[in-house]
Amino acid sequence: MLIAGNWKMNTDLSKARTLAAGVRKAAESAGEVEVLVCPPFISLDAVCQVMRGSAVQVGGQTLYPEDSGAFTGEVSAPMLRSVGCSHVIVGHSERRQLFGETDEDVNTRLLQARLHDLVPILCVGETLQQRKAGNQRTVVEEQLTAALANVDIAEADDLVVAYEPVWAIGTGETASPEQAQAMHAFIRSRLTDRLGQSVGAGVAILYGGSMKPHNADELLSQDDVDGGLIGGASLKASDFGAIINVATGYTA
Ligand code: 13P
Repeated sequence: MLIAGNWKMNTDLSKARTLAAGVRKAAESAGEVEVLVCPPFISLDAVCQVMRGSAVQVGGQTLYPEDSGAFTGEVSAPMLRSVGCSHVIVGHSERRQLFGETDEDVNTRLLQARLHDLVPILCVGETLQQRKAGNQRTVVEEQLTAALANVDIAEADDLVVAYEPVWAIGTGETASPEQAQAMHAFIRSRLTDRLGQSVGAGVAILYGGSMKPHNADELLSQDDVDGGLIGGASLKASDFGAIINVATGYTA
């Protein structure tokens, strides 16, 4: 189980430090559950320092697919590594929708993350319109196929995929446990086709979209749900801690 918090564009430096300290404390009883936080770039260094000596891992929310250079405003994989990040989110729907990232952009970012030993958390998910039209599987399959182009199977063993239906993000509406399980099982089947049985079966598939303490159990109890990527509820250490606690019930 992996419980990951995506803080998005929330928390200034001081609030980030306080929240990080709260998460560190809440994660003390996480046991086998892996805990990750993804703060804004500006707070990554400080949050890595707060987490030092604990098992809580830290990740970036995106990256630029070059090592360095004239790319004003961007942050590279080596920079993320240099402050202590282990993971990076790629292809979040907000990056796709608000910042125009294409499937090809997601692929180059994922490859760049791999090149620098960052674990990519690849986000996929359909919009409400696409689900209403019954196209959710086609959309997710296309996103997966494009994002994994040229990815070496040997390099994919620690890949993380997050299924985040766009209609459930920040809306308070979650996928039902049945909808989540059905899509996760579909993603699993596509991954085993692409990466082979043993690697595909080992990929952690997280659910994201209004996961809260009160609905975490029904989602995390599903066979192919291996954790959560949590937005709003990751901004309160007590809520995030409550979700971590639920996840501890599902570790082997
Ligand atoms: P919410 O939990 O706020 O719906 O956000 C989910 C998300 O986008 C995590 O990346």
